[in-house]
Amino acid sequence: MARHLITSAIPYINGIKHLGNLVGSQLPADLYARYQRGRGHEVLFLCATDEHGTPAELAAAKAGKPVAEYCAEMHETQAEIARGFRLSFDHFGRSSSPQNHRLTQHFAARLDAAGLIEERVETQIYSKADGRYLPDRYIEGTCPNCGFESARGDQCDNCTKQLDPVDLIEPRSVISGSTDLEPRETKHLYLKQSGMRGELQDWIDSKADWPILTTSIAKKWLNDGDGLQDRGITRDLDWGIPVKKGDADWPGMEGKVFYVWFDAPIEYIACAQEWVDAGKGADWERWWRTDHGADDVRYTQFMGKDNVPFHTLSFPATILGSGEPWKLVDYIKSFNYLNYDGGQFSTSRGRGVFMDQALEVLPADYWRWWLLSHAPESSDAEFTWENFQQSVNKDLADVLGNFVSRVSKFCRSKFGEEVPAGGAHGDREQALIADLERRVRAYEGHMDAIEVRKAAAELRAIWVAGNEYLQDAAPWATFKTEPETAAMQIRLALNLIRLYAVLSAPFIPDASAQLLEAMKTEDDAWPGNIGAALQTLSVGHGFAVPDVTFRKITDEERAEWQERFAGTRG
Ligand code: MF3
Ligand code: ZN
Repeated sequence: MARHLITSAIPYINGIKHLGNLVGSQLPADLYARYQRGRGHEVLFLCATDEHGTPAELAAAKAGKPVAEYCAEMHETQAEIARGFRLSFDHFGRSSSPQNHRLTQHFAARLDAAGLIEERVETQIYSKADGRYLPDRYIEGTCPNCGFESARGDQCDNCTKQLDPVDLIEPRSVISGSTDLEPRETKHLYLKQSGMRGELQDWIDSKADWPILTTSIAKKWLNDGDGLQDRGITRDLDWGIPVKKGDADWPGMEGKVFYVWFDAPIEYIACAQEWVDAGKGADWERWWRTDHGADDVRYTQFMGKDNVPFHTLSFPATILGSGEPWKLVDYIKSFNYLNYDGGQFSTSRGRGVFMDQALEVLPADYWRWWLLSHAPESSDAEFTWENFQQSVNKDLADVLGNFVSRVSKFCRSKFGEEVPAGGAHGDREQALIADLERRVRAYEGHMDAIEVRKAAAELRAIWVAGNEYLQDAAPWATFKTEPETAAMQIRLALNLIRLYAVLSAPFIPDASAQLLEAMKTEDDAWPGNIGAALQTLSVGHGFAVPDVTFRKITDEERAEWQERFAGTRG
């Protein structure tokens, strides 16, 4: 039995996430966690809300709430929606937790002791109208790189270049719109990660098996010159983790907090501590400390491509720089973007389908199937309602759902609600089993490699193989002349329903549970030999005809939803 530590990029607290965010990290991470559990491995699957920084403060201000209260409420909202999508986190933590405060301050102290932190006096933008500094998203202006007029102080949404507020052309305060801004000197801490270039380069170079998307972004940043600049890790904000050296004050840093991108990845570790403190686990160190056995752990991270530099460079710099035996990530799976109906999903503009809205329209499995089978792996992908309708109706309703319904109803009407006897398998059955043996092993290979689209395609092919067998064997015709043979075919087909439930669980967990219940079995063991797995339900074993597993989406519904989600969210 292996041990898998799995984390999804932790979503910002500033609102409900859209389907593009979901498919870029949380959902594929859940697929992988469910798969590894299904294979019998020990899994710790962690996620949290990313609660600091200007996005949190701005969202709270917009909602007219104190930021701590806003974060607590939005955390609950996100947790509820995550449950709705069946995201099987072992713990859904908060980057504002006391555990993360302590650990972040601890890392800062270690980095300082290692000589990796430098105090610098620098120029920041001060707004006289607002009576405060305007870091990151508190300031907007024209991008010096591409000319986009609403570039944020930390990054341009148009060309994705990382920015410094002082770079913006015609800057203005996001709080008041004031342009009465002046540069002022203030002291901040910098992490001297440029000195770690060689170490980080060697580490990235040792990851020959990583996806090209991940390594190409990491290498571009490493070699770009400005990619691995020393990084400011403090901000002039109220909300955040106070700058301290462990438990001790940090002279000159009073009233400042750590930068959100410094504390957020540390939450991956703090979240495991929260998991223990919540009474859900006994030992977090065996997952995170190599001096406590974490060398045996395989650690996989999931994230959208915009997160890759922070996970391949900044966070490893924090871990390596601490000089302590923390577990480093073994594999980083990153994703391109999902677009929405001819444009981009946009949180700030409320464009696209958001997670809460999706669940109002259809149950989680419908969305999970479409999103995962169209995951933006090798390039950006696009959600359209036509494509969604087509996939659901074909893959889920026609192929899987129809197989289940035909087999179970035919058996009930001809043999009753138990697995019928009949004779031994013939050539056709042997051929099907041989085909499935190959396909299931291929499916496992794709899941192990986290090739999400390929895994979905193979799973679909496994469903199709059952349908083709049924079409070809035609037990409804066979029954008239050879009822024994028809009984044998149906016995096999009922076992196929159970096999499908087990194999499909990582993608469509609710349907999987429904099918196992209908087959009146709790045996969800991952199949070894397929011939043996298809003998699990023995002659006389009871079953029930399940309710419709997947329904079709009508043209009227599709048109209605298309229209409803065409505008922007209110
Ligand atoms: N909140 C960030 C985002 O949604 C992700 C943070 S991931 C972590 O893009 F590394 F900071 F944990
Ligand atoms: Zn730009």
